[in-house]
Amino acid sequence: MKRILSSRQVRNTVQRLAARIRVDYADKRPVLVGVLKGAFVFLADLVREVNRPLEVDFITVSSYGPGRASSGNVQFVRDITTDITGRHVLLVDDIADSGLTLHELRRHLMRRSPASLRVCALLARRSLLADEPDAVDYLGHSVPDGFVVGYGIDCGEDYRYLPDIWVLEDG
Ligand code: IMP
Ligand code: MG
Repeated sequence: MKRILSSRQVRNTVQRLAARIRVDYADKRPVLVGVLKGAFVFLADLVREVNRPLEVDFITVSSYGPGRASSGNVQFVRDITTDITGRHVLLVDDIADSGLTLHELRRHLMRRSPASLRVCALLARRSLLADEPDAVDYLGHSVPDGFVVGYGIDCGEDYRYLPDIWVLEDG
């Protein structure tokens, strides 16, 4: 495994994103929707850095089985319970890979007519950003291909507890 971001770098990134969110949503009481399970650590740190009135909800989706390959379709496992009609919603995910999960989640949430809907992702693939530069509104870091783990992000349910972010070597 190779470390790509230390916990200190991640903390700086979370602070940078939170500062923008704090300004953009001043006086708005946004609903931050974390995508489970991968975003649970990121969202927990992010809301404390934003440190302004907001609400939190979670949505659970599954596109990966036990391994490293995406199944290519997004299954909705658990929905939010907040009524987001007329609300300012910020979707918070760990990593945008193909962008399919965020695309499907956007469609799903837009049906409820939120006042606004933006996306915050800690990580996004360079390949995705080359094709869709606007896929993520608040981006932490772009990352090359290679399976990422740590800071809430798993491989087959392992490694979520690691404070740093790592990429698994091939094999
Ligand atoms: P996408 O739909 O292809 O963008 O994949 C997004 C979801 O797959 C993310 O929310 C992650 O949960 C998971 N995922 C994508 N790439 C990785 C990775 O490198 N490590 C762990 N999970 C990943
Ligand atoms: Mg995820």
